[in-house]
Amino acid sequence: MTEVPSQRGFASEIREPEAAGSFRSGGSTEPGGSYEATARVVDAGGTDDDRVVEAALRPRRLAEFPGQPRVRDQLGLVLEAARRRGSPPDHVLLSGPPGLGKTTLAMIVAAELDRPIRVTSGPAIQHAGDLAAVLSSLDEGEVLFLDEIHRMSRPAEEMLYLAMEDYRVDVIVGKGPGATAIPLELPAFTVVGATTRAGLLPAPLRDRFGFTGHLDYYDVADLVTILHRSARLLAVDADEAGISEIAGRSRGTPRIANRLLRRVRDWAQVHGEGHVDHPAARAALALFDVDDAGLDRLDRAVLEALCGRFGGGPVGLSTLAIAVGEEADTVETVAEPYLVREGYVVRTPRGRSAAARAWRHLGLTAPSPGLQQDALPLETGSGSGQEPGTSGRFGR
Ligand SMILES: Nc1ncnc2c1ncn2[C@@H]1O[C@H](COP(=O)(O)OP(=O)(O)OP(=O)(O)O)[C@@H](O)[C@H]1O
Ligand SMILES: [Mg+2]
Repeated sequence: MTEVPSQRGFASEIREPEAAGSFRSGGSTEPGGSYEATARVVDAGGTDDDRVVEAALRPRRLAEFPGQPRVRDQLGLVLEAARRRGSPPDHVLLSGPPGLGKTTLAMIVAAELDRPIRVTSGPAIQHAGDLAAVLSSLDEGEVLFLDEIHRMSRPAEEMLYLAMEDYRVDVIVGKGPGATAIPLELPAFTVVGATTRAGLLPAPLRDRFGFTGHLDYYDVADLVTILHRSARLLAVDADEAGISEIAGRSRGTPRIANRLLRRVRDWAQVHGEGHVDHPAARAALALFDVDDAGLDRLDRAVLEALCGRFGGGPVGLSTLAIAVGEEADTVETVAEPYLVREGYVVRTPRGRSAAARAWRHLGLTAPSPGLQQDALPLETGSGSGQEPGTSGRFGR
């Protein structure tokens, strides 16, 4: 394990992202859908309400960070080596779905290096000048956290290439033929970039990160550990059975686990002595419409339409969306990613099909076992907005 440096001078330097406008997270909260994704108790994106609590629940050190063993060990090595050399580590890119700990790890990088952290995000940097202002005010060894780095503007991105590689920015003075670039030397610093969409990063930017950690969904055992810790920090009296029940319905996502814990705590406080136990967890999660598998009303509506109305599919996205009374975009970005990942729904060129797990989950029998055999899975997130039936390639 890495030797833990003193925390002196660090905590007061942390600036948690605040402005909602510059800190929107995750694909599920993208504009365009009619469904209020942020109102979902199982939404992996963070709401303002979450952010207040989350700051208190974030592990501060790598050694306190449960789960993601590969990323944790690799990052630990990179940071420890840098500390021994006495120079800033390589730039770090953290990718993965919302709510899995990217921001948390960025804060941990600064804490382990015993360095201050500057927090900003892609959407907040619309002009190269915005980035130049941030870069030119960095101190030696400071950590620059660029959240949602895939949403930065192109000119800012190009400035960042140079800054990351040569610790230099070219400030352009004047306009037209008379414009000159004045190089400005920067102190050595470390960029920690976070993205939910690593695929959207241009290759030259991706290449400038010496270390890339991809965060994956957590298993139930890790969520149990996380929930025990959160319960302790929130002074919630929770037993093993209650915690396990919540962990199993949290979609592998610590943010959802922590939110469900708070809802169960609310229920327990209103209906009992405040103990988060198995009956409290079951009753509260039933009230919030989160079933045993962590699916909510919208998820189940999609499965019910797919299996009930369309005999398992394949059915086009827009037809499916009409059947559940939602925008196609909402079904695609809010419900579908989890259903596809967990093997309830298969995306095929001819549309969406119900997989065996969907039938099982609804307690139904699939009409024909061969139904999924010619299903040709597509990459999640590819071709968004496009009606799958139009791509024309099927049955390889
Ligand atoms: N490994 C972990 N252990 C304990 N808590 C965790 C862990 N990972 C995440 N969390 C908790 O989950 C919440 C969300 O984490 P975080 O903000 O780091 O996610 P994120 O990946 O940055 O999400 P987004 O993509 O929405 O920005 C935080 O409250 C944090 O405390
Ligand atoms: Mg984040």
